[in-house]
Amino acid sequence: MIEINDLVKIFHPGSINEVLALSKINLKVRKGDFITIIGSNGAGKSTLLNCLAGSYSINSGFILIDEEDVSNWPEYKRANQISRVFQDPLLGTCGTLSIEQNLALANRRGKSHGLKRGVKRKDRELFRKQLSLLDLGLENRLKDKVGLLSGGQRQALTLLMATLIKPKILLLDEHTAALDPKTALQVLKLTQQFVDTLHLTALMVTHNMHQALQFGNRLIMLHGGRVILDVSGNEKKRMTVDDLLEQFYKVRGEEFISDRMLLV
Ligand SMILES: Nc1ncnc2c1ncn2[C@@H]1O[C@H](COP(=O)(O)OP(=O)(O)OP(=O)(O)O)[C@@H](O)[C@H]1O
Ligand SMILES: [Mg+2]
Repeated sequence: MIEINDLVKIFHPGSINEVLALSKINLKVRKGDFITIIGSNGAGKSTLLNCLAGSYSINSGFILIDEEDVSNWPEYKRANQISRVFQDPLLGTCGTLSIEQNLALANRRGKSHGLKRGVKRKDRELFRKQLSLLDLGLENRLKDKVGLLSGGQRQALTLLMATLIKPKILLLDEHTAALDPKTALQVLKLTQQFVDTLHLTALMVTHNMHQALQFGNRLIMLHGGRVILDVSGNEKKRMTVDDLLEQFYKVRGEEFISDRMLLV
């Protein structure tokens, strides 16, 4: 579904601040893949997602989505196919609008007509049904302002909004990093549930190696803008955190492991 070929991203090329963020990345993502992405700070994880989404232009290489070259497509054009959830729970939702108004906005994604006031009864029923899947009681709080919700509830709602109109690709950049461990796990389980039931193709960046192993069917490790590990299926299932650490040691030595990455 996604084919990334020799992708290079350089920030501030030619200046003293030049950064080679992605160095000839090659990656083929199959439809239905749920890929977890790990790597140290500055490895290029967010840059990779930003290049896929079109937020960053690329310096060389190309990106195909369903065999179409989207390398030069602007972000808004790719947004019809790609949904994103970020680390900050405030980014994906509008706090001053109600839960149902937020969902109504998400329900208009990719449609050309403008924002109309009010939420249709038919839509409200759909929203109630979808919200009940989250199992957080939000289906009874349709008129509540989103600003009243906890970070976890808000992130779960963001996830629902990102998938309300099924995207071809779901990109998650540390979307549970700002949540407490229990809530983070709840949102991660919801993520897996959405990916499974909607048969989504998803890429999820995480700093947590346990989670990277627990979720998804494939794991890639980035380092210095390169893919240094790519495991899937049973090979991934058999992997342990120790195995992942061993890979890290191989590339950089012990000082390379940041405390953050070891958080359980
Ligand atoms: N907009 C930008 N302008 C300049 N340099 C950038 C920009 N975004 C990222 N970089 C640089 O590119 C490299 C890769 O950054 P990126 O944000 O992709 O890392 P990451 O793997 O997501 O790290 P983290 O775990 O800290 O989120 C880093 O050296 C970073 O400083
Ligand atoms: Mg990042």
